[in-house]
Amino acid sequence: MGDPAVKIFDTTLRDGEQSPGATMTLDEKLQVADLLVRLNVDIIEAGFPAASPGDFSAVRDIARRVKGSAVAALARAQISDIDIAWDAIREAEHPVLHVFLATSDIHLQHKLHLSREEALQRIHSSVTHAHSLCPTVEFSAEDATRSDCEYLSRVFACAIRAGASTINVPDTVGYTYPTEYEALFVYLRKHVPGIENVTLSAHCHDDLGMATANTLAAIHGGARQVEVTINGIGERAGNTALEEIAMVLRTRPELFGNLDTHINTEELLTASQLVSSLTGIQVQPNKAIVGMNAFAHEAGIHQDGVLKNRMTYEIMTPQSVGWNATNLVLGKHSGRHGLDARLRELGYRLDAEQLKSAYSRFIALADQKKHISDADLNYIIESGKETPAAI
Ligand code: KIV
Ligand code: ZN
Repeated sequence: MGDPAVKIFDTTLRDGEQSPGATMTLDEKLQVADLLVRLNVDIIEAGFPAASPGDFSAVRDIARRVKGSAVAALARAQISDIDIAWDAIREAEHPVLHVFLATSDIHLQHKLHLSREEALQRIHSSVTHAHSLCPTVEFSAEDATRSDCEYLSRVFACAIRAGASTINVPDTVGYTYPTEYEALFVYLRKHVPGIENVTLSAHCHDDLGMATANTLAAIHGGARQVEVTINGIGERAGNTALEEIAMVLRTRPELFGNLDTHINTEELLTASQLVSSLTGIQVQPNKAIVGMNAFAHEAGIHQDGVLKNRMTYEIMTPQSVGWNATNLVLGKHSGRHGLDARLRELGYRLDAEQLKSAYSRFIALADQKKHISDADLNYIIESGKETPAAI
């Protein structure tokens, strides 16, 4: 029996770095690469070596340093790019050459000025060349989701014949929809000769906010590799977020035939905070898994439920993704149980009457202020008539 895992191909250092303003120095890229190894991603896409000498050296240094995870380098479907990319990753423990060419008519006609047949020839010669250098070659059909399906099948059959062992089906412009993307994988598995011998990969952008849903649909359709970034950073609206895919598979295994990833999920928050501080791209507070509010509860009914049993309002533990604990935020929606719990943490133990009176002063203050701090709570207690006993 094979490994029942979905491979995580992390492209934070390539597609992620293409986010406006996200450029990282060599030292910063090495820090991210070290963290990706700690996370236990299967493949680190380290960069696009032909893009600049800086990209080349960063990919080469990452390839020399990383142990355990494979290191991929991106190249256009042309010999010179592939040679440069290979030079950068040849010392990696597990090198991967990632060759791409657009296949939609929009891109072929307006960007590349190639006919469909010319594109096929280019795919054949470039993938053959890549495979002569590197045992593991991934081929991506850029803008696959807007490509003609029958032509896309010919494209992938050609790449497989030329030696590609991973076939990537990018939703480059974030255009597809879950059921449509799943159906595309099913179609390709039915129509592309040799596809049963390669790994199918999903690569989604988030232009319509569907990147995670589309990637999960691709897994249902047969994808066994997903291309993701930390915090979902990437071109325009970004890529699928690594932390979301890892935690969906960990939280709802029954929906995915028990497929899982190899990710050490306890490192997710550290990875998110590192990437955010190095790129300057802040994580929105309500971001799934790693946002500041992802495990924060303010509403009284929710706080009461979580204090009784956290499963009432939490589907995973904060610790499982690297947070210390659930955060009960005190504000005007909070109830008496939440207030009492926090006061106990601060060393105050109030009887029922004292708590009732402290709660009414708390609500009066919470109506004026967005956040009630521990200093505010101390004031509420000290300014009242209560004489709480220290615990
Ligand atoms: O979005 C895309 O199509 C890409 C390819 C280079 C894989 O990033
Ligand atoms: Zn992309």
